[in-house]
Amino acid sequence: MTRVALAFSGGLDTTVCVPLLEEEYGYDEVIGVTVDVGQPASEFDEAEETAEALDLDHYVVDAKAEFADLCFDSVRANATYQGYPLGTALARPVIAEAILQVAQEQDCDGIAHGCTGKGNDQLRFEAVWRDSDLEVIAPVRELGLTREWEQEYADDKDLPVEGGSGGDWSIDTNLWSRSVEGDELEDPSYVPPTDIYDWTDEPSGESEEIEITFEAGYPVAVDGEEYDSVSLIEHLNELAGSYGVGRTDSMEDRMLGLKVRENYEHPAATTLLNAHEALEGLVLTQEEREFKQLIDQRWSKKGYEGLVDAPLVGALEGFIAQTQRRVTGTVTVRFEGGTARPVARDSEFAAYSAEHASFDTETVGKIKQEDATGVAKYHGFQRRLANAVTDDDADAETVELATDGGEE
Ligand code: ARG
Repeated sequence: MTRVALAFSGGLDTTVCVPLLEEEYGYDEVIGVTVDVGQPASEFDEAEETAEALDLDHYVVDAKAEFADLCFDSVRANATYQGYPLGTALARPVIAEAILQVAQEQDCDGIAHGCTGKGNDQLRFEAVWRDSDLEVIAPVRELGLTREWEQEYADDKDLPVEGGSGGDWSIDTNLWSRSVEGDELEDPSYVPPTDIYDWTDEPSGESEEIEITFEAGYPVAVDGEEYDSVSLIEHLNELAGSYGVGRTDSMEDRMLGLKVRENYEHPAATTLLNAHEALEGLVLTQEEREFKQLIDQRWSKKGYEGLVDAPLVGALEGFIAQTQRRVTGTVTVRFEGGTARPVARDSEFAAYSAEHASFDTETVGKIKQEDATGVAKYHGFQRRLANAVTDDDADAETVELATDGGEE
């Protein structure tokens, strides 16, 4: 008796995978696993109903808290890839890990996903699964399936597939972001209709200010009220979303090299990332901020690749943790016109002296205004020397000759 665990959403791709795993791959039994990373309830209903209609053993694993914690780690790393806060990317290893665990508990021989051979998710899932001894199966990719073929096959087999909750768009939702792609959106010159958005309202003239509290770089409270990671994200998605915060429309360079048009909504992520960066601006030194950009960029890249367990990430986390010890304080964010703009920040660890920076003070401690004169004398010194020995006339002649030549 052989058994295979399938990452199951109840959508067309994963639904056709169920009979295909038996017919084409010879498995005696398929079990479906759906992992909760904050999808809307309707998706679980769809998965549940489809599983029942298919007579599929169906497991639902709640990984929301674990995923939300990873999202908060990404805030400490100011993590975005080409403007996208990595919702889908960060969720995949969490989902893959949870499915693997069920597969092992249920004595499965294989593990399968319904990803195509075009996207990033196949790579992110398999990076986790190929650490195990299970047979890794990707029917859609391996059998070269298209949506059209799948639809026909489903009709033939009388499989329980509906139009899907998102109509013609391909949608991926979790706590951190909602991604919309496919169909007309594949044309980069096509302006998306507003109904592709579900989390964000059209920005109005209204505005609102909120205060976000961070401890060691982690968001812990909104307007003085403490939240766990899941409910803090849910709360901000709701609130910032009502001001139209966090829409991205980008040409995304995928791991395989394909460029794909992507639309995202991520109100909480945008709010928290903006606030966090504003607080770092107050407490970190100039050189820490500058160097951390390199660290953050590498962290983001590994996040995008679905490889947050790579040793490099652990090493980057060392630097991040060291800097975040001082990223404690509050940031006031104003929601206005589709933006979440930090308008005030406060921390006991501020690397800032109002006294020294002020235009109104002459001498602070041992530092007087005129002490800057020496610095000003040296500023740009080498450039002064180099420019003085450059033969500007010769240069001018060369340019003139070239222009004359061109005209003749
Ligand atoms: N391109 C994004 C990523 O690789 C998200 C794709 C989400 N999938 C979807 N069907 N909308 O992270």
